Amino acid sequence: FSLCGVALVIAYLLGSFPTGYIAGKVLQGIDIREVGSGSTGATNVLRTLGKGPGAVVLVVDCLKGVLAIAFVYWLFSFAPTQNLLPSTVNIQLWQSWMITLVGLLAILGHSKSIFLGFCGGKSVATSLGILLAMNWQVGLATAAVFAVFIAISRIVSLSSIAGAIAVPILMLTLHQPLPYILFGIAGGIYVILRHRANIQRLLTGIEPKIGQKLATEK
Ligand code: G3P
Repeated sequence: FSLCGVALVIAYLLGSFPTGYIAGKVLQGIDIREVGSGSTGATNVLRTLGKGPGAVVLVVDCLKGVLAIAFVYWLFSFAPTQNLLPSTVNIQLWQSWMITLVGLLAILGHSKSIFLGFCGGKSVATSLGILLAMNWQVGLATAAVFAVFIAISRIVSLSSIAGAIAVPILMLTLHQPLPYILFGIAGGIYVILRHRANIQRLLTGIEPKIGQKLATEK
């Protein structure tokens, strides 16, 4: 059980890794939190630093989620085994709960990074990485929903919100265990709440499309 605690701390620290902030500092000597939407995520990096840095931040932030879940799978490979748990405990369900908690901690880390005074991004790329590692079909289907909305609207935030809404529906449709369904609901609500400023802009029609700057820079 102490290993579970380690996995949770590692998930939070992995999620906290400030990829976008580092990109801003290294490439242009700027604090990404002071420009554009103020988010440290790939969209704001794309908008501020360009396509290459945006793509790198997207991949690295996604990998943070993959690694957090891969780490807990690795822990499961040698502990705990069923004989360490009471016989009434279903090991598979127990592992699903663990993976769910690890995923939520990684999401939290990305947007409330310990390295950035508890701010950060909107947890979209990290959530996608978690989903791909949790259940690749759900991950790919979520990415497809995102891609369809991007193709139609060219607005990343709207597409992210659509993806967040799709996750619990996909978890249910693909008969995933209860913890994963709850992950989809909790993670989805959290990601949508992180987009409050975007929702305001969407409602007033000033949310920028890909390639556009924000009308009111932060
Ligand atoms: O991935 C975050 C995206 O959905 C919105 O980012 O910078 O436009 O607020 P941003």
